[in-house]
Amino acid sequence: MSGRSPDVRWHDGAVSRDLRAGLTGGVGSVVWLTGLSGSGKSTVAVELERLLVESGRAAYLLDGDNLRHGLNGDLGFSDEDRTENIRRVGEVALLFADAGLVSVVPLISPFRAARGAARQRCEQAGIRFVEVFVNTPLAVCEQRDPKGLYSRARAGELTGMTGIDSPYEPPERPELEITPDGSSARAQAMRVAELL
Ligand code: ADX
Repeated sequence: MSGRSPDVRWHDGAVSRDLRAGLTGGVGSVVWLTGLSGSGKSTVAVELERLLVESGRAAYLLDGDNLRHGLNGDLGFSDEDRTENIRRVGEVALLFADAGLVSVVPLISPFRAARGAARQRCEQAGIRFVEVFVNTPLAVCEQRDPKGLYSRARAGELTGMTGIDSPYEPPERPELEITPDGSSARAQAMRVAELL
């Protein structure tokens, strides 16, 4: 994909993925956690990064909230901005995975097509993409409301809140679905790690 720069050419490096895998504890991949705000994506992602690194596997957390402080600081929550957010995070996740890390990506990423595009970019590059649907019902997320965003949205003080007045399109065939079944975030992260 050359985008708006048709006169640029891809330049291969001299280090193979296998060689990098020897340094990072394995071949890189992308674990993409999608779900509503407050669903528990970030909590599971933090545990997953920790248990992978503790087991000698290089991994890195690419959290949507955190990336919006820097790389994506210019983006808001319109459909267009979210699509661009997902695209950028997908590209960064792909680069980190190519470098031999497990990219752990908790991102609401409400749009099926945008998640599909991120998956396609990875799979075309030979990078495994594991989609995890953190399927916590809206009512539960709303009850947790860790950042007070749902109550602000219900009060009309915040517009475009996912699940309230902005859509969330659930995955049709995620590699794994996590529901709030009383198990710990660590146990849920272990279920994800088993797929890697
Ligand atoms: S995404 O939709 O573009 O994938 P992302 O995961 O990066 O979203 O960021 C979501 C975070 O932004 C939420 O965890 C929440 O803290 C915050 N946020 C602020 N405004 C909104 C909103 N209108 N909808 C959803 N999340 C919001």
